[in-house]
Amino acid sequence: MRKAIIAGNWKLNKTSREAMTLVEELKREVLDVEGVDIVVCPPFTALGDVSEVVLDTNIALGAQNVYWQDSGAFTGEVSAPMLKDLGVRYVIVGHSERRQYFGETNETVNKRLRAALSHGLTPIVCVGENLAEREANRTFDVIKDHCGGSLANLTTDEMKKIVLAYEPVWAIGTGKTATPEQAQEVHTYIRQLLGKLFDSEVAQSIRIQYGGSVTPENIVALIAKSDIDGALVGGASLKAPSFAAIVKSARKN
Ligand code: 13P
Repeated sequence: MRKAIIAGNWKLNKTSREAMTLVEELKREVLDVEGVDIVVCPPFTALGDVSEVVLDTNIALGAQNVYWQDSGAFTGEVSAPMLKDLGVRYVIVGHSERRQYFGETNETVNKRLRAALSHGLTPIVCVGENLAEREANRTFDVIKDHCGGSLANLTTDEMKKIVLAYEPVWAIGTGKTATPEQAQEVHTYIRQLLGKLFDSEVAQSIRIQYGGSVTPENIVALIAKSDIDGALVGGASLKAPSFAAIVKSARKN
């Protein structure tokens, strides 16, 4: 049985002070929750402060990106050792907003996730089609390209340490969630693909989150699907009550 994992991607939101207020509230709300991995991914500037608030709690810390070099003349970048030093355990790589606005490609996603793995960080690797691609019936082609390229040359042991997130771009921040059936269809496809690219053990053990307008209302039907193992939550993770409600509904039976 795969343990559910709910991660909050705060994107470009919250000063350090606001982040601490949010996570203090969240900490109280999810105090007794077991059986679900809970992750918050604040912006880089709030990681240090949030790290202290979540120390020795059931909330793990994640970052929203990582550079592939450990150090050097790379102005503006943040490396895996720097994240580790702050107590970060997860890192989102290849989010569609990075692919869309910051020139992220499968190749750079692959470099970032390798850097994360080599420093013991768990990458949350995002894949997903945009609206034009879905309407052109190219969803599976895009998923195949994103998975094949982003996960290139990983060993099966490395693959087992990764979390995948299926995020259809048309469902992100739009209030237009994929139906549980649409999401399940793609998750099943991803699992079959991983069986071919790696092996059946990888395919069965890897956790695949769904992301795109997840709310306390729609999580129940999404998580009930056999191949959906959690959620990567944007907007609804910015308020403690809604994120906590999603976490509490996420246990897999
Ligand atoms: P929303 O939940 O705001 O649609 O964002 C989803 C997302 O991009 C999470 O990474």
